[in-house]
Order: sequence, then C-alpha cells, then structure tokens
Amino acid sequence: MSDGKGRGKGLAGRLTAYGDPGFAQFLRNSFLLARGYGPEVFDRPVVAICDTGSDYNPCHATAPQLVEAISRGVTMAGGLPMVFPTISLHESFAHPTSMFLRNLMSMDTEEMLKALPLDAAVLIGGCDKTIPAQLMGAISADVPTLSVAVGPMLTGSHEGERLGACTDCRRLWVEHRAGALDEAALNAAQSQLMASHGTCMVMGTASTMACLAEVLGFMLPGGASIPAVHSERLRHAEASGRRAVEMARAGGPTPREMLTPASVRNAAVTLQALGGSTNAAIHLAAILGRAGLRFDLAELGAIGAATPILADLKPVGRAYMQDFHAAGGLPALLRELAGAGHFDSDTPTADGRRWSQVLEALPDWRDPGVIRPAGDPVVAGGAIAVLRGSLAPGGAIIKQAAMTEGLRAHEGPALVFDGLADLDARIDDPGLDVTPDSVLVLRNVGPVGGPGMPEAGLIPIPRKLAATGLRDMVRISDARMSGTAYGAVVLHVSPEAAVGGPLALVRDGDRIRLDVAAGTLDLLVDDAELERRRAGWRAPPVPRRGYARLYATTVQQADLGCDFDFLAAPGDE
Ligand code: FES
Ligand code: MG
Repeated sequence: MSDGKGRGKGLAGRLTAYGDPGFAQFLRNSFLLARGYGPEVFDRPVVAICDTGSDYNPCHATAPQLVEAISRGVTMAGGLPMVFPTISLHESFAHPTSMFLRNLMSMDTEEMLKALPLDAAVLIGGCDKTIPAQLMGAISADVPTLSVAVGPMLTGSHEGERLGACTDCRRLWVEHRAGALDEAALNAAQSQLMASHGTCMVMGTASTMACLAEVLGFMLPGGASIPAVHSERLRHAEASGRRAVEMARAGGPTPREMLTPASVRNAAVTLQALGGSTNAAIHLAAILGRAGLRFDLAELGAIGAATPILADLKPVGRAYMQDFHAAGGLPALLRELAGAGHFDSDTPTADGRRWSQVLEALPDWRDPGVIRPAGDPVVAGGAIAVLRGSLAPGGAIIKQAAMTEGLRAHEGPALVFDGLADLDARIDDPGLDVTPDSVLVLRNVGPVGGPGMPEAGLIPIPRKLAATGLRDMVRISDARMSGTAYGAVVLHVSPEAAVGGPLALVRDGDRIRLDVAAGTLDLLVDDAELERRRAGWRAPPVPRRGYARLYATTVQQADLGCDFDFLAAPGDE
C-alpha cells in the first residue's frame, strides 16, 4: 500500500486516494497483466522514464534509443522500467516561443511524477528549455531523479569550413543580410549546420543547462558533453538506468537534497567558467526557486568577475561540444576550477560520490587548447555581467565576453522600437535615423509583453549600417537572446516594459549610458520628466482565457526566473 509519499513500494505505491485500496491494486495489476507483464514485476522498484521524443523536436530524434538503453539498465539492475511521455519543446517549432511553454512542461513533468506509481525517474531532455522544465518539475515533485541529455550534435563541414548550430546559422544569416553571401551559397551551407541528431553543439543554452544539471548532481558525471550519436551516450543512458534503481531502492537522494548553498554556488561558477548561455541565469533562478532558494543575480555578477572562462567554446571561443568532450569534458574543467580554488568539490554528484572523488579518479590528460589552465584562460573573468541602474532597477545582464570591446562603456541616443512588428517594419528602412552610436531599444518583448520573453534581444544591425561593415552596436531589450548568439546586447531588463518598467518610458533621442565594468545601465532623463511620461502609460490588455491568461497573470520577472508565482517555492505535497 502507499506510504503516503508512495515511494519505495514498486507498483503498489501511490494508489488512488479514494475507494477500496485492495480493489485499486487488483485493478492496477490486472492492467499490467493485460499489457503482457508477468506478476513477478509487481514487487520490483519502478523507474519511470520520461520520453520527450517528438517529430516536432529534431534535437530529440535519438530519444527512442535512449529509452531503450535506460530501460535495459533498469532491467539489468532488477528494476521495472516504465516509460511515459510529457510535452516536448523545440526551439524552432514552438509558438510564440519555447520559453512561453517551459512552465507548462514543468507542470506536466511535476504532476506526472506525482501521479504515477514510481520510485525514481530518469528524464530525457536536451533542447533548450527541456532540462530546466524537467528539473523544475522534479524538484517540486521531489522524487529521486536523474537527467539524461540527448547530447550535442556533431559539427558539419562546408567547403573546408567547420559549421555548427546555431552560432553559424546566425553568422551566415548576418552575412546574407549584409549582401556578402548570396542565397545559393547560403543554401549550400545549410545542410551542414546541423550535421547529426542532437542539440546545438556550441555552448548555447542546451549545452549549458546539461552541464549545470551535471554539476548540480542530477546527471551522472561526464554525461553532459557526450555527442548525441556516440555509442558512449547509450552506455551513459544504460548506466543512468542502473543508478536510478539504486536510488529507487535507497529512496533518495531527492532533488531538494542535492541543492545546497555550495552546489548552487558551484553552478554559478561553472556557468561563468563555461562562458555559458545568458538564459541559464533565468533557468537557474527558476530551478532554485522550486526548492525555496533565491538565486542572487548580484552574486552571479560577482562570481563572474572572479571566475576565468576556461572553456574555449563557441560562441565565446572557437571549439564545439565534441571537442570539449574529447578534451575531457566537464569533469576536466571542474578539476581546473577546483585546483584554482573556484569550485567546492565537497559536493555530491549523481553517482553517489562527492565531486572530489570523481575528480581524483579522472585520468590526468586533458586538452589544454580547449579546456584551458586556470592560469591561461580564454578570458580572465566575467562571462556574464549583471547590470543595474535607472533603466533596469531589477537588473539586466550582458554576455560581456562575446561583445565588441569598444562598446563596454558607451553613451548614445536611444532609438526605440515598440515591439517586434515595429522592429520588422522599420529596422531596414533606408531613412532610419540611426548611427553606429545609437542605442537600439526593443521593448514589450519580456515575460508578459512577448509573451514568453522571446529570443528577440539580438536586434539586427540596421541594413544600411550592416552594409558598411558594422557588426555590433549597443542593443537593449526586455527579451532574451539565444545562448548561441553574441554582441553588445543587454538582455532581461527588469521590470519589463509591459508591467510599466522604466523601459516603457524611453523615447527616441534619450541618452542611455552602459558601463559594463561598473555594472550600470542608466536612462539619463530626470525623474520629473519620467513621472510625466508614466502618467500617460497604459498596461497592455490581459488575454481573456486559457494558458495565455494564466501566463500573463502569474509569470514573474526575469530575475525570479519567469516561473509562475504559484509554482515557485515548495508547497503542500
Ligand atoms: Fe534544440 Fe538548439 S534547437 S538545442
Ligand atoms: Mg537556443
């Protein structure tokens, strides 16, 4: 019978909470017999495997093989694998943005983990929002959980040039817009941008979140970087199935037990040392929020200033995930960080050891060209800088390692776009009043305004300036940016324009000052004038029904991870 939490009981756990429990168990067993299972499975520990394969998610095309490998591991270890689906999110196939649906996927994951009789779970994720959504759900459900990433794609090759998604997708498109690459050449390169199954193979959001899942102890050590199509990934999946049975038998550890101040700090250090995705700042806030922990943006900035970037990976550096894996992968990077005093290795891993034990057992070798020594980093410090000021009282961030040096301290006149339609209509207008000094402002693309905070922050350089060879300008928005992108792009301005943040009050010609070293972002307009403008501001209408209404009325700002207010923090189980 159920133990209340329903774990450690195999398929007898978590019976429906009404009626005759004996009859409920009889029915459940009858359905299992109907599925073709013999009665000997009734007492086995159950490992639920979340299958997020979908024709709409090419990044997860290998999910069927991973399900098979995890199931094999579970069975070998004496458990019963039970596969279940949830929604699956892909970056290019989710409207209006996968971020809009991340919280829905987290709710789907949480509720399934709470509803189904299971003793542990293995969640197959990978494409950008999926691992964050799954960890959020798992922390709220607090059942013993492992994450298995689908893994990164291999790079392609076109006319002697190595290509990868999606940093090179963007770079080639920028060249095409500027007239430097014609359509035939663009199309010829296209088939090499995503040369295999798997997730984008730069240190974008997918790779960053897989690495953070590994650091936090939700993924077996070494698992984040294994390419999607390597046989090693299947062995890793099989090992994850075996480990999940151990966790099922032991009844833990549970996700909340893994999150300690030291492991959380390690995640921030790792994010910075990887030169990882800006999106991770949002996802980490949401993930920690589910455990009742506050992710401190100011601390992320302070950690960044003191942490060297050691991974020489695109978009900050030059290599790809398969090179990172061949170079030693995340454990080799963590050993460098630990050796230099940045990483606390007295923290748990997913295989039951401490990181110190894992790092000690590593082979000595690593490729110092890809995972640099702490004394010779790619960049001395500060992958992601945190900004605050009169334009962003709740904070904003910039991936300073991937911006033009000369724009780190910049003051210029604002050129404001009121949303994506306005941007599309005017950005390439030959008559646009813009110079390289202009500060491009895009608003109403935040969590509420987007909705879902689209990856629209990488405002294109106006065509007439791009044609002169200009490739970077200061750009500011309440949107996000793909982890695979780069430039002097200020993101996540909070509070956003759609809830009346100062961004809503900016007008063309207002002076804006960015100072990355000082961590400031200011609108140089006096308070009396801003108050006068505020009196004329109107909030956008709230959607009338459905998920859009739930989203608009409960989503929190970027600094709180864009989680729904009623999902953040552990509650009554
Ligand atoms: Fe799936 Fe990039 S589109 S990880
Ligand atoms: Mg992305």
